[in-house]
Amino acid sequence: MAGLNCGVTVALLGVLLLGAARLPRGAEAYEIALPPGSGISVLIKPGTPTLPVKVCYIIISTRRETKLSIKAGESRVFSFSCQNPENHFVIEIQKNIDCVSGPCPSGEVQLQPSTSVLPALNRTFIWDVKAHKSIGLELQFSLPHLRQVGPGESCPDGVTHDISGRLDATVVRIGTFCSNGTVSRIKMQEGVKMALHLPWFNDRNVSGFSIANRSSVKRLCIIESVFEGEGSATLMSANYPDGFPEDELMTWQFIVPAHLRASVSFLHFSVSNCVKKEERVEYYIPGSTTNPEVFKLEDKQPGNMAGNFNLSLQGCDQDAQNPGILRLQFQVLVQRPQNESNKTYVVDLSNERAMSLTIEPRSNKPSTDSVPGCFVCLDPWTCSTNLTLTPGSKHKISFLCDDLTRLWINAEKNITCTDHRYCHRKSYSLQVPGYILQLPVQLHDFSWKLLVPKDSLSLALVPAQKLQQHTHERACNASFSYLLASAVPGQDLRFGFFCSGGSIEQIRVKQNISVTLRTFAPSFQQEASRQNLTVSFIPHFKEDGVFTVTPDRKSKVYLRTPNWDRGLPSLTSVSWNISVPHDQVACLTFLKERTGVVCQTGRAFMIIQEQRSHAEEIFSLEEEVLPKPSFRHHSFWVNISNCSPVSGKQLDLLFWVSLTPRTTDLTVIILTVVGGGALLLFALGLIICFVKKNKKKKISKGPAVGIYNGNINTQMPMQPKKFQKRRKDNDSHVYAVIDDTMVYGHLLQDSSGSFLQPEVATYQPFQGPMGDCPPSPPPTCSRAPTAKLTTDEPSPGSPPESESEPYTFSHPKDTNMSNGNTDIPLLDTHKPTEPGE
Ligand SMILES: *[C@@H]1O[C@H](CO)[C@@H](O)[C@H](O)[C@H]1NC(C)=O
Ligand SMILES: *[C@@H]1O[C@H](CO)[C@@H](O)[C@H](O)[C@H]1NC(C)=O
Ligand SMILES: *[C@@H]1O[C@H](CO)[C@@H](O)[C@H](O)[C@H]1NC(C)=O
Ligand SMILES: *[C@@H]1O[C@H](CO)[C@@H](O)[C@H](O)[C@H]1NC(C)=O
Ligand SMILES: *[C@@H]1O[C@H](CO)[C@@H](O)[C@H](O)[C@H]1NC(C)=O
Ligand SMILES: *[C@@H]1O[C@H](CO)[C@@H](O)[C@H](O)[C@H]1NC(C)=O
Ligand SMILES: *[C@@H]1O[C@H](CO)[C@@H](O)[C@H](O)[C@H]1NC(C)=O
Ligand SMILES: *[C@@H]1O[C@H](CO)[C@@H](O)[C@H](O)[C@H]1NC(C)=O
Ligand SMILES: *[C@@H]1O[C@H](CO)[C@@H](O)[C@H](O)[C@H]1NC(C)=O
Ligand SMILES: *[C@@H]1O[C@H](CO)[C@@H](O)[C@H](O)[C@H]1NC(C)=O
Ligand SMILES: *[C@@H]1O[C@H](CO)[C@@H](O)[C@H](O)[C@H]1NC(C)=O
Ligand SMILES: *[C@@H]1O[C@H](CO)[C@@H](O)[C@H](O)[C@H]1NC(C)=O
Repeated sequence: MAGLNCGVTVALLGVLLLGAARLPRGAEAYEIALPPGSGISVLIKPGTPTLPVKVCYIIISTRRETKLSIKAGESRVFSFSCQNPENHFVIEIQKNIDCVSGPCPSGEVQLQPSTSVLPALNRTFIWDVKAHKSIGLELQFSLPHLRQVGPGESCPDGVTHDISGRLDATVVRIGTFCSNGTVSRIKMQEGVKMALHLPWFNDRNVSGFSIANRSSVKRLCIIESVFEGEGSATLMSANYPDGFPEDELMTWQFIVPAHLRASVSFLHFSVSNCVKKEERVEYYIPGSTTNPEVFKLEDKQPGNMAGNFNLSLQGCDQDAQNPGILRLQFQVLVQRPQNESNKTYVVDLSNERAMSLTIEPRSNKPSTDSVPGCFVCLDPWTCSTNLTLTPGSKHKISFLCDDLTRLWINAEKNITCTDHRYCHRKSYSLQVPGYILQLPVQLHDFSWKLLVPKDSLSLALVPAQKLQQHTHERACNASFSYLLASAVPGQDLRFGFFCSGGSIEQIRVKQNISVTLRTFAPSFQQEASRQNLTVSFIPHFKEDGVFTVTPDRKSKVYLRTPNWDRGLPSLTSVSWNISVPHDQVACLTFLKERTGVVCQTGRAFMIIQEQRSHAEEIFSLEEEVLPKPSFRHHSFWVNISNCSPVSGKQLDLLFWVSLTPRTTDLTVIILTVVGGGALLLFALGLIICFVKKNKKKKISKGPAVGIYNGNINTQMPMQPKKFQKRRKDNDSHVYAVIDDTMVYGHLLQDSSGSFLQPEVATYQPFQGPMGDCPPSPPPTCSRAPTAKLTTDEPSPGSPPESESEPYTFSHPKDTNMSNGNTDIPLLDTHKPTEPGE
């Protein structure tokens, strides 16, 4: 009982004290003095709801008023007749700022007069700034920023911000905001009206915002929201829930930490009846390549956006009779990536020196509607859409991305030989390192730049599995290919794409190249073990590229000149060393009948050389028809050397090699050919010779052919000894000149613009054989077989030629006999096609 008594006593005492504290306040006198020219006016008026029970007055001198208005330059002393005026009155302090005629306010906005001199009533501070259209006014809110609330919603602490703007004479409500939210800045033009309501018990003495003048925002307003962490914001179109002003534009900007994701959802919206333009929202999404991303209001809005983005609402020209209402209330939800693996990957580049690795947005994958960009993070919070890892250290990375297929990896590594004495014969294995394969992102390109000292070393590439050249006829379908291209600045030489599963055993290139492993399918990850290309530094040679080809017995090998479709670069020379197993016969077929190349300077030619006998055929690619499908019994070289073609008349050559067993029944063939074809052949022979004779006169450029020399081929590094031998066997000046000026004539071209002339003269003797019998078929029988052979294999029943090689007419060694032989190769090379006809 004693306890209870004691409690009651304390309560009573509290009430008494409270009364005592309040009593003097009722009688308190206030003085408000407003400086002249301040633009401030104060109004004390009855609040709502008015309390009728006990009347309260404002006492000025001895007068009892229900309203008090004080203007700038005035001063008033007053008191209240009751003890709790906050229940009856409210105070409104308005400051008008005209920055059309005067300066615009800028900086921290003060509460004037200071709250300490004002009676404790519900207070509303109003700043009404009128500005020119060309001036953007920016309200900046200090932390904890603002949170927009819907109409009729109240703020927990009673502090509200009503912000409105102006469109010509019309007031547009931007919104009502409470403290503690994400809205950090609001930018408007033409002026702004800000009303800050503070309840009587709030002793806040600062406005909490500042104003800055900016350039025009060119729209109704921009509202910026800053997310510090996970959270959400609900925002509304101007005038919500009433209609958004006709044909207006409003933008929201969102600042989102890189490690989080933002999603937009439209909570409520309606659209108006447009007569012109369309109502829409437009997003600027980081990582999107198709910004702005335009959505209709009824579309599903983007989600899981990484990084800062902005969103604009664009109105339309409405139907005057039935405008309808455009309004929008939406939510932005910022949260941790939902389906994110928080796995960390270690990329150890500490042992690398000349390597860079970039994880970046796929350039060929246009972002789909609602999928935003992806982030790669280096030690959790440093995230970016495009990350380049530097060599020499260990990196820990993680991914913030709902769809990792939107990213890819590109890597580049330099393998440089600076001292040829050191690197000679050294070899390296080109393989994609394991730390790249373990990443959940697909490798796009891994590029090795193989750099060697000029003119002292060349490079040989040997794949673990034989390679196939990508051609239209036989496209690569592997999950990866190697793209080989010159890495000499200014040299546009691309050998093409090569994938595993072909017949190319080795590729040698003259100088600096880049070998790019490009993946074409995610299955590369599984097939990665199949990639292994060994590069060795070998003695320098002059050919731009040499391919060693060992055809497969089952399928055709398609080969084509570098820079396909754009033409073999000027003065480039490429060779193919094609092996023919001794129990097989190879059929060499060219796709086109003519190359179409037209030389500006130099000569374009092709040499086919039988390796065992060195017998060779030389074709001027400018003038002559390409050889018909022909059988080769022994390994042979194909060398193609380009001139400087006139533009648009480029050199592109595609040929294929197929093998057939040598065990063909010769007698059958001979019988067939001799019996069935002898008559025809005889007739053809007559026609051919007749046509040739006529043709010969037309081929007045014939001399150029004579300059070619078979030892060009033997000079290739593969057969270094042969070269020596040939030089001994032959007139050495021939080779010297030819080596320098004909095959690699471009090397001398600079010193002598007309280098061709003297050589043409020197080699006049060789013109004879060539001119007498150019390896062009009679026009009458040339088209049909060529066309057929592009689709059909030559018949296995085709007669293999006799061991005495007919392809000898232009070889210097065989100069004497070639005169007499001229017609034989022509007929022989045609024979294989005839059974197919
Ligand atoms: C003062 O503001 C509060 C809300 O903050 C409201 O409940 C109260 O009615 C207001 N007083 C008057 C007199 O308007
Ligand atoms: C806007 O601010 C700049 C200084 O920041 C001032 O020079 C300029 O006069 C201001 N414009 C107006 C209209 O007040
Ligand atoms: C702001 O709001 C958050 C939640 O929305 C709350 O946790 C925090 O305490 C609030 N801060 C203030 C100063 O009211
Ligand atoms: C506002 O009040 C705080 C104390 O609550 C005081 O430290 C500060 O100086 C005051 N600011 C102004 C502008 O009066
Ligand atoms: C929206 O974002 C884009 C890209 O960041 C930017 O170019 C544009 O100026 C922004 N627009 C507004 C109104 O903030
Ligand atoms: C995300 O996770 C949920 C369940 O955790 C799953 O149903 C959904 O398919 C996942 N989405 C993606 C894109 O992985
Ligand atoms: C991944 O996240 C889960 C839950 O947030 C946590 O339990 C787990 O330890 C995290 N894993 C790593 C590797 O950080
Ligand atoms: C490779 O070397 C070239 C110069 O030849 C240089 O520009 C490039 O940055 C190097 N790349 C790397 C990854 O070191
Ligand atoms: C990523 O950065 C690298 C290096 O700065 C640049 O070469 C590449 O173009 C960038 N990729 C994208 C998609 O921006
Ligand atoms: C190849 O690269 C190396 C190293 O960058 C350079 O010294 C050399 O001159 C280059 N070769 C050519 C033919 O440009
Ligand atoms: C690729 O093509 C070859 C024939 O050229 C075929 O045998 C193989 O199955 C193909 N592979 C794929 C993955 O399509
Ligand atoms: C790559 O090929 C080279 C040469 O054939 C071989 O020495 C090396 O072991 C191979 N590497 C792998 C990982 O298979």
